[in-house]
Amino acid sequence: MITRYTPGSLNQLTNTLLRSFGCDANEATIVADHLVDANLAGHDSHGIGMLPTYGEQVHAGFLIPNQTPLLGDANGAISVVDARFGFGHHMALLGLDHAMQTLPTHRVALLGLRNAGHVSRVGTYAEYCAEKGYVSMHFVNVTGHEALVAPFGGREAGISTNPISMAMPVNNAAKPLLDMATSTVAFGKIRVANNKGVEVPSAWLIDQTGKPTSNPKPMVEDRSGALTAFGEHKGSGLGLFVELLAGALVGTHTMAHNDELPDMIINNMLSIIIDPAAFDDSQTIANRTDDFYQYIKNILPATGVDNVLMPGEPEIAMRAERNQYGIPVDDETRRQIVDMGVQFGLEKNAFNALWADNATID
Ligand SMILES: NC(=O)c1ccc[n+]([C@@H]2O[C@H](COP(=O)([O-])OP(=O)(O)OC[C@H]3O[C@@H](n4cnc5c(N)ncnc54)[C@H](O)[C@@H]3O)[C@@H](O)[C@H]2O)c1
Repeated sequence: MITRYTPGSLNQLTNTLLRSFGCDANEATIVADHLVDANLAGHDSHGIGMLPTYGEQVHAGFLIPNQTPLLGDANGAISVVDARFGFGHHMALLGLDHAMQTLPTHRVALLGLRNAGHVSRVGTYAEYCAEKGYVSMHFVNVTGHEALVAPFGGREAGISTNPISMAMPVNNAAKPLLDMATSTVAFGKIRVANNKGVEVPSAWLIDQTGKPTSNPKPMVEDRSGALTAFGEHKGSGLGLFVELLAGALVGTHTMAHNDELPDMIINNMLSIIIDPAAFDDSQTIANRTDDFYQYIKNILPATGVDNVLMPGEPEIAMRAERNQYGIPVDDETRRQIVDMGVQFGLEKNAFNALWADNATID
């Protein structure tokens, strides 16, 4: 069964669980805000459903609450930050703030973030930079756990879902934000489908012989088969390059050395942050961006499509809908979160009482 919960109640119970993991108030707020916002944006794969995984990683001693990252001195516009296996949501923001200090001098800042715990929804960082008036691009590789995505032509997984995000700082109807895994879908979407007991489109997955399959169970429960890269050889090539940029260039490792890493989700991230004023007047760039948005919106939609969307628009629409009607969570995801809370010493009835249904849901 799926129930809708108020964003506020999910934020509060996420905060409570993170405090039980050992996160201090500041870190718990940052991570809870990130996860619930991912749910609000429609990315349930990177929302509160990740909490049981984080709990296991904290329990194993791999994911470290309240970590102090190593903030390297800037080399020109380039800053390297070692997150030392801290909560990625928090470490990435500290890393971006550190790297952005070079912007007044260089008008561009590059961050190489190493050894972060799961940074979750990568679009959060492009939005963070856009809110400050900067254009940005972020490339993230994923190591520490088994490969999930088959490179084009392979029958077994070799890399992970290696996401990319980018945004333009425009504060009106159009807030262009591309935020995507280089797999056809993020692994979490397969996990969510399995938790709901539903099939997935067969273009998303191959079985262990390399044939398309719509059954998420073998992949989620036994890691049998693999996710496909989006766009055949092109998306596969992009995913492999993200591995090189985030892993070989700025990180300390790629999937080629996965055997040597702790069993947790490790994200490395290359971020490129640009001050648009170095190119032209910021308002002029914003106006050109908005003109382009209007132009795209006037493209005739294909049969069966209401209108052409800019990347980022589905998330804006979903936030509006979920803020009004609540965030849907399936019973299995709720059970896993509550069980994790009990493992960390929370009292079951009191923790369950934090799940407030949204009264406006039919
Ligand atoms: N931290 C990690 O290790 C990690 C790994 C993989 C993915 N992720 C995250 O997973 C999330 C989900 O990724 P995904 O690839 O499944 O996202 P998705 O396929 O839902 O969306 C990808 C992009 O396409 C745009 N889009 C969607 N429908 C559209 C339409 N009809 N018209 C125009 N644009 C449209 C969205 O706005 C988004 O920018 C992302 O937030 C990503 O950052 C994180």
